[in-house]
Amino acid sequence: MSEVVEKNGAGTAAQLILELLPEPVILVQGREGEAPEIAYGNQAAREVFRIELAGAPLGAALRRPEVLEAIEGALEVGGSAEVAFETIGVQPRFWRAFARPLVSEVRGLRQLVVMLRDETDARRTERMRADFLANASHELRTPLASLAGFVETLRTHAKDDPEARDKFLGIMAQQATRMARLVDDLLSLSRIELNEHIAPSGKVDLARTVQDVSDAIRPLTAERQVTIAIEPSPGVGSVTGDRDQLVQVIQNLVDNAVKYTPPGGKVSVTLQAVANLEGARAPSRAGFGLSLLSPDTGEAQAYVVLRVTDAGPGIARQHLPRLSERFYRVEGQRSGGTGLGLAIVKHVVNRHRGGLTVESAEGEGSTFSVYLPAAVPSS
Ligand SMILES: Nc1ncnc2c1ncn2[C@@H]1O[C@H](COP(=O)(O)OP(=O)(O)OP(=O)(O)O)[C@@H](O)[C@H]1O
Ligand SMILES: [Mg+2]
Repeated sequence: MSEVVEKNGAGTAAQLILELLPEPVILVQGREGEAPEIAYGNQAAREVFRIELAGAPLGAALRRPEVLEAIEGALEVGGSAEVAFETIGVQPRFWRAFARPLVSEVRGLRQLVVMLRDETDARRTERMRADFLANASHELRTPLASLAGFVETLRTHAKDDPEARDKFLGIMAQQATRMARLVDDLLSLSRIELNEHIAPSGKVDLARTVQDVSDAIRPLTAERQVTIAIEPSPGVGSVTGDRDQLVQVIQNLVDNAVKYTPPGGKVSVTLQAVANLEGARAPSRAGFGLSLLSPDTGEAQAYVVLRVTDAGPGIARQHLPRLSERFYRVEGQRSGGTGLGLAIVKHVVNRHRGGLTVESAEGEGSTFSVYLPAAVPSS
């Protein structure tokens, strides 16, 4: 008696566990010459594959012919099968199905357990890795090919032409600088990513840092005849952060703004203290805005908002969501950059548990805002 109870208890527990598994599990069965049916699907299977009733034909849940073929084949010979497939919907998902035979107690009935694994995230990561490598190699190869071309020209045609030689050496120096910057940016991005999970603990005076960056960038602004106006920011205290990384953030935003401002124009930088997340996210101007990053927590947290506004060409709406992707550049704009600047900004701000928004419209300039947790004032 007790043995039966124990056995039943174990059976129920096993069923419960099966029911609660996050991954879909289906029991398929069939007799020779009949189409296989679904004898059972756990909760995940019922939700994902919309299995409504036990006894439904397998083809109603798994519609892909290659999957049906593999499972039917395994059922027929009492063997195993493994097959990868894609479900199409609002969001396509990638699955891998593992079919394993069960020894059925009923004569003539063939049974098979099909376990499904969602491989969408793994695929996406793999895809991103491959894209990243392809992009990085492409970005390095272009200046490298140009360098190699000029070396060849200098050795042959331009060998005895001092004027051409000077010109080519100038271009070569530019290309080498570009490559060095690309490598620096890539290294810096990977360093930031490595410690992104560790929030910084230092205290940074943002107003001071903005001033330092603006001083450092003066040669560029003079060359482009652009002025940087730093609005006074009374009452703005320090933020919790890593100074070197915040310098990178300000540098990238100001550098972009200066780059896209026509000669004689003005870039404005403001700092504002706000009491909570809602205040940090509030729009700064009329028109369209988009959050590119926002912290998971910290609603009641006080923030300091840094805004960089330019009167450049602005950015069309469809590009906004992708601006902080690595290597993304708006087509037709000759930025001369590699498209890593805003990716660096985003990762640094993420490490700081802050947020990033962009407000822009074509012909109406752009405002990039970064908000960072305010440091608790030391008494
Ligand atoms: N202030 C701005 N005005 C107009 N377009 C901008 C502005 N800032 C960024 N963009 C667009 O976003 C793209 C990505 O910016 P990001 O700073 O990441 O790259 P980049 O400036 O092209 O290169 P890098 O910063 O690596 O030198 C730019 O190529 C440009 O098309
Ligand atoms: Mg940039």
